[in-house]
Amino acid sequence: MKNIILMAPIAAGKGTQGEILKNEYGYVPISTGAIFREIIATGSPLGKQVKDIIDSGKLIDDDLTIKIVKEKLLEVGDKPFILDGFPRTLNQAKIINKFMEEKSLDYQVIYLDLSLDTSMKRTLGRLICECGKSYNIYYDELKAKNEGICDSCGKTLYKRDEDNEETFKLRYNNLMNNLKPVLDLYQSIGKLNIVNAEQSVDEIHQEIMKVLK
Ligand code: AP5
Ligand code: MG
Repeated sequence: MKNIILMAPIAAGKGTQGEILKNEYGYVPISTGAIFREIIATGSPLGKQVKDIIDSGKLIDDDLTIKIVKEKLLEVGDKPFILDGFPRTLNQAKIINKFMEEKSLDYQVIYLDLSLDTSMKRTLGRLICECGKSYNIYYDELKAKNEGICDSCGKTLYKRDEDNEETFKLRYNNLMNNLKPVLDLYQSIGKLNIVNAEQSVDEIHQEIMKVLK
């Protein structure tokens, strides 16, 4: 299977689609956001710094982000991987493209296209579980069977600290301003595939599969 760079506005479903590709095709999702949340959970001084940056809607600095991704890519071995939410800046894109070229790692870029309104709705409706499963209170097919309780492991669901309206606006603007030149770059080298992410989880998955075949 082809390696994937998965880019999107906030809460377009990168993690959701990555989980399906992992379960069905053995993909290894590398989500920089998820890695940063693991760093925060350690409670270390770096974790505190990372939390402050994410809670303020800003991006983590390129050097740390690129270092983490390179380390993960070297651990993946022969399995296909998904870069979820990386690269998010032109600098990240240029450095990782060079790295992947050196390692002979080919990839396709998929951009999950989503309106601002839907991005906000999915962000504000998101509930997550410690086990990694994600739910949404605004979509019937994504609601937990028992409100507030994970279907898979029975733990209590919670919101991410940054999933509030005020932080959303800052995050959204920051992300989209940085993403624009990255999308232009991948478009110019013929790697960019755009998938309409306003659809259901399954419909998006089907479109992603068309790109990968
Ligand atoms: P990150 O965790 O990557 O946040 P994000 O980009 O805002 O994306 P999300 O994880 O919020 O959304 P998602 O696309 O994975 O959607 P999900 O599947 O959860 O990054 C967090 C922070 O870390 C960033 O803000 C930044 O500060 C920092 N960071 C990360 N990467 C960085 C980088 N490269 N450089 C610098 N800083 C970086 O789905 C969302 C919700 O919608 C869920 O409730 C889900 O159930 C629901 N849903 C999913 N699909 C559908 C559908 N088709 N229809 C209806 N609902 C759906
Ligand atoms: Mg995610």
